[in-house]
Amino acid sequence: MKNYEEIKLLLKSKGQEHLLSGFGMFNQEMQKAFLNEISAIDWALLEEKPVERCGGIEPLSGLSLKEIKNHYQEFENAGTKLLREGKVAAVMLAGGQGTRLGSSAPKGAYDLGLTKHLYIFECQIKNLLAVVDKYGARVPLLIMTSDKNDRTTRAFLKKHAYFGYAQEDVFFFKQDMAPCTDLNGKILLEDRGRLALSPNGNGGWFSSMQRAGLVEKMKAQGVEWFNVFSVDNVLQRIADPVFLGATYLSGNACGAKTVKKNSPEERVGVLCKRGGFPDIIEYYELDKKTANARDNEGELLFGNGVILNYLFRISALEEVAGQKIPVHRAKKKVDFFDGEKYVFPQTENAYKYETLILDLIHLLKGCLSFEVEREREFAPVKNATGVDSIETARELLKKNGVEL
Ligand code: UTP
Repeated sequence: MKNYEEIKLLLKSKGQEHLLSGFGMFNQEMQKAFLNEISAIDWALLEEKPVERCGGIEPLSGLSLKEIKNHYQEFENAGTKLLREGKVAAVMLAGGQGTRLGSSAPKGAYDLGLTKHLYIFECQIKNLLAVVDKYGARVPLLIMTSDKNDRTTRAFLKKHAYFGYAQEDVFFFKQDMAPCTDLNGKILLEDRGRLALSPNGNGGWFSSMQRAGLVEKMKAQGVEWFNVFSVDNVLQRIADPVFLGATYLSGNACGAKTVKKNSPEERVGVLCKRGGFPDIIEYYELDKKTANARDNEGELLFGNGVILNYLFRISALEEVAGQKIPVHRAKKKVDFFDGEKYVFPQTENAYKYETLILDLIHLLKGCLSFEVEREREFAPVKNATGVDSIETARELLKKNGVEL
C-alpha cells in the first residue's frame, strides 16, 4: 500500500486530487482503508482509450435452425459423450449490479413467481439440473460474483439449498472492481472516504477464475469446456448437448448461441467477422446503415444476435489469456457523495469501466454461430417493465409451460 504522500503525488499526476479533500477529517482507520482503496485502482482500465474497432466487418454464417435439425442426433450424441465424460463445467456470470432492474439484491435472487416463489437462480439451476438428470452427467457450476453481491449470493443459495444442486458441485469466485467516474473522468465517491466502485465487467471472468485456482481445479477434474452464460436469461439452456456436440464437431474452440434479431434496432450484440476473425459488435456500436443491411432474401445481414451463452475450450482460452482486451465505458446512473451530500441522479451521470466477454471471442480463431429459437431460449431480465423485463420474461416462461 502507498503512503499519503505517494498517493497525493499519484492523484495529482492523474488529475484526481479532489479525492483527498476532507482526508484530514477522517479517523486513522478510515484513512488507512481509503489509501488502500486508492492503491488498488487499476489505472490502465480508466486510462485506456475508448474502444475503436478497426478492420471491415463481414457477416458470419453459422448453423441455422434447419441445419441443426438435420444433424440433431449426431450433435446430441457427441455432446452427450462430452457431458458423460465430465468434460463440461457451467459458468454463471452473476457479478453484475442489475442497475436497470433497480434492485440492490443479486439479480438471481429476484422472485418471478406469482402464485409461488420462482427465483431467477432457481430457473437457471432447474434448467441445468434437467440436463444433469437426463444425461446422467456431473456438471460443476461455477458462479462469478463481485464484492457487491458475493455475500448475499452465497447466503441466498445456501438458504435455498442450492435449489437441489449438489453442493459439492457449486463453486464461487469473485471478479474485480473498478472506480466509476463522472462524465469528465473524475473518480466518484460512494461516501466519505470510500470510492464508488463497480464490478469491472464480465470480460475478466477467466482471469478471475484462474486467480481463484478454479481453472486448475476444473482441469484436474477432467473439464475441457466451459459453458458461460448470463444469470439473467431465465430460459437459458445450459450444458445443452446439441450445442456442445455441434461446437465440438465444428472444430472451433468457441461457440455462441444466437437468435435472429427481431429488428435492426434490437439491443443485442451481433456475431460477425472483423478482419477475418469472429467478433461481436455491441448494439450501441453498430451504425444504422450496417444494422439495416439485408441479404437477397431480405434477412438482416448482421442478424446473429448473441444471447450470452458461449462455449469455450479451456486450452484455447489459456493460449490467449495474457492478451489485453479493450475497455468499454458504459454510461450509467451512479449514486454518489459530492463531498457534502449524497446525490441520487435520475439520468446517466457516470461511466463504469468494463471489459466484456464478447471481446474474448475476437482473440479466438473461430466461433460457431448456433441459432436457437428465441421463444424457447431467450427471455432476458434487464428492466423492471417494458422490453426485456420481468413482464416479458414471465410471459415467455408461461409460454414454455413454466408455472408461475
Ligand atoms: P449486463 O451487461 O446486462 O449488466 O450483464 P447487469 O449488471 O446485469 O445489468 P445493468 O446493465 O447494470 O442493468 C450481462 C451479464 O453479465 C454479468 C451480469 O450479472 C449478467 O449475467 N456481469 C455483468 C458480470 O458478471 N459482471 C459484470 O461486471 C457485469
